[in-house]
Amino acid sequence: MVAMTNSAAVLADAAAYAAAVEEASLAAAAYYATGESALDDDAYDRLARGIAAYEADHPEEVLADSPTGKVAGGAAVGDVPHTVPMLSLDNVFSAEQFVTWTASLERRIGRPVTAWSVEPKLDGLAVAARYRDGRFERLITRGDGTAGEDVSHAAGAVVGLPERLAEPVTIEVRGEILMTNEQFAQGNAIRTEHGGAPFANPRNGAAGTLRAKDRAYRVETTFFAYGALPLPDSGELGEALAELPHSEVLAYVAGLGVHTAAGTAVAPLRATTVEEVQARVDGIGALRAALPFGIDGIVIKADLAADQQEAGSGTRAPRWAVAYKLPAVEKITRLLAVEWNVGRTGIIAPRAVLEPVEIDGSTVGYATLHNPADITRRDLRLGDQVMVYKAGDIIPRIEAPVVHLRTGDETPIAFPESCPQCGSEIDASEQRWRCTRGRDCRLVASVSYAAGRDQLDIEGLGSTRVVQLVDAGLVADFADLFTLRREQLLALDRMGETSTDNLLAAIETARTRPLSRVFCALGVRGTGRSMSRRIARHFATMDRIVAADAESLQRVDGIGKEKAAAVVAELVELAPLIGKLVAAGVSMTEPGATPPPDPGTEEAAAPATADAGAPGGDAATGSALPLAGMTVVVTGAMSGALEKLSRNQMNELIERAGGKSSSSVSRRTTLLVAGEKAGSKRAKAEDLGVRIAVPEEFAELVGAFLTAGEEA
Ligand code: IVH
Repeated sequence: MVAMTNSAAVLADAAAYAAAVEEASLAAAAYYATGESALDDDAYDRLARGIAAYEADHPEEVLADSPTGKVAGGAAVGDVPHTVPMLSLDNVFSAEQFVTWTASLERRIGRPVTAWSVEPKLDGLAVAARYRDGRFERLITRGDGTAGEDVSHAAGAVVGLPERLAEPVTIEVRGEILMTNEQFAQGNAIRTEHGGAPFANPRNGAAGTLRAKDRAYRVETTFFAYGALPLPDSGELGEALAELPHSEVLAYVAGLGVHTAAGTAVAPLRATTVEEVQARVDGIGALRAALPFGIDGIVIKADLAADQQEAGSGTRAPRWAVAYKLPAVEKITRLLAVEWNVGRTGIIAPRAVLEPVEIDGSTVGYATLHNPADITRRDLRLGDQVMVYKAGDIIPRIEAPVVHLRTGDETPIAFPESCPQCGSEIDASEQRWRCTRGRDCRLVASVSYAAGRDQLDIEGLGSTRVVQLVDAGLVADFADLFTLRREQLLALDRMGETSTDNLLAAIETARTRPLSRVFCALGVRGTGRSMSRRIARHFATMDRIVAADAESLQRVDGIGKEKAAAVVAELVELAPLIGKLVAAGVSMTEPGATPPPDPGTEEAAAPATADAGAPGGDAATGSALPLAGMTVVVTGAMSGALEKLSRNQMNELIERAGGKSSSSVSRRTTLLVAGEKAGSKRAKAEDLGVRIAVPEEFAELVGAFLTAGEEA
């Protein structure tokens, strides 16, 4: 269930109240005028709630410019009158508040509401787009709700607002303009290239872009319609629109060629009961982190025109709709330092150290920064106030510095001049910097990774032991493990006969691991466990993987042009190591996988199948496999026959049984295996109508492959 447990600011007296009103008004004015507020949404909401609480206790002291009394964004900018005021929405923050709200609406209209529309609350700016006889005429911001600013000059770069509608109608479409995550990244890159300051977040980006005139570069935004109304000379359409349920208005607008949220994972849905509404609210909440654009809540509207008309509107907000706010996922905090960590493959990656800040229920102290160029591109400086985004279980990221909060005391971020791990030179010829010693720089980490549970699974070979082996000069890469001799091990500290024999036995077993595990142990950048399995099943032997060119690698599901080229380059670098592994008798084949036909044959010339990740020659036997054609996601704790399996082993099992394993639920998911303590993935699957099985049912389905796998 989505709830918001945010406190309100406590205002002790009239002076504190007046100061709060001033701070909120300034922030709101800045937010709506330039998108540059000093407060993040959460801080603003807390302040506004404190003000509302004070006003409830002291109704005689309410100030005229209190943000509670007027349309949000009261800054009067613009002089184009709205035909019908552009209202704001009342907020609820919990299921209880939502139920109370529906009850008061139903009391007011004197009957139950039997149809609701549940849709995303898009986090952008409200605009009205006017069309006359099907032609775009004007784009107007909300302004103070009664009049807005003409921003028609910007319409050409707004995706989703066509120049011409599919029918020659006169209509005003209302909706939200925002930047998708991709548009935001692209927009900021272009902006900083042109010497401009980056936008702090997509919302600011959309606001700034709408207002900008005469820019030397083009930045795109996206429009999502959430309503429509007739204009004075709309003719018959006016009456027709007034009668239509809201959901049909949206469908009509989409049919005219205007973009709506209909094609997205959080498309508006109709619900008939409060329970259904709540389920969809939870579903949208669970989908939020994975969306390619920002939402800050869910809007719930009485769908029927008659219900809306009877409920009517107040001066600030309609009574037939409400915003169910989601917790803030963005906060402003300070960038304290940048750490430079060297990864297993020698990549030198920067990480932002932040003044710890609580976002969406967890404390965020670090955020990813991709590479040095990323820092330069975003013009980040030490001491900057930065906008940090974190939702669900995604890794927190810095959206951008909040440039207007700079004090002048910020300092440039120093880039390392030599490898922070070993002091060697840095290869800075590519975007991602790398220690010139490559994998050797982090030898202990690479060998430990190769020996890890999901790779060669060598029991008894933890990092301490690897350090010993490396220090003793016995191991210069993980292939050397396979030629270790008994007396060499016995000579090490704390290595008795039993541990030595056990380790040697574990290494013997590792020699027979399937290719997918051996390939994964190589630690090729960008190929984790699941990608390694796909590559191994596709090519079936190491020889074929090594011989593959970028083009044939791209036949593997999930490998694009860029990754293919990177894998080919790394395999060249890894050739000596692979040669040593072969010489040491390590298994180089994938049991059960059939290689793809040799290039040049007729079959090879045929287009790649959709599921290139399946074993090459699977076509003949594929249909016999219980999970053929299925995409399966596993979540929660496994039980019964599956209890001991790691996630990686579950995924291996799925793939042996002909399925595709995936870590996230989407419309493409066919089955979710949900054990105890399944969380948001289960909610999402329920929401999307994905079939759900408990571990025991699943074990029955793939029973034969369970034992086959143990032997493999
Ligand atoms: S309906 C008269 N639907 O949220 C009803 N608003 O906080 C007015 N918003 O002013 C709006 N997504 O800018 C509606 N699906 C949606 C929305 C939405 C975002 C914005 C809109 C509104 C603000 C209120």
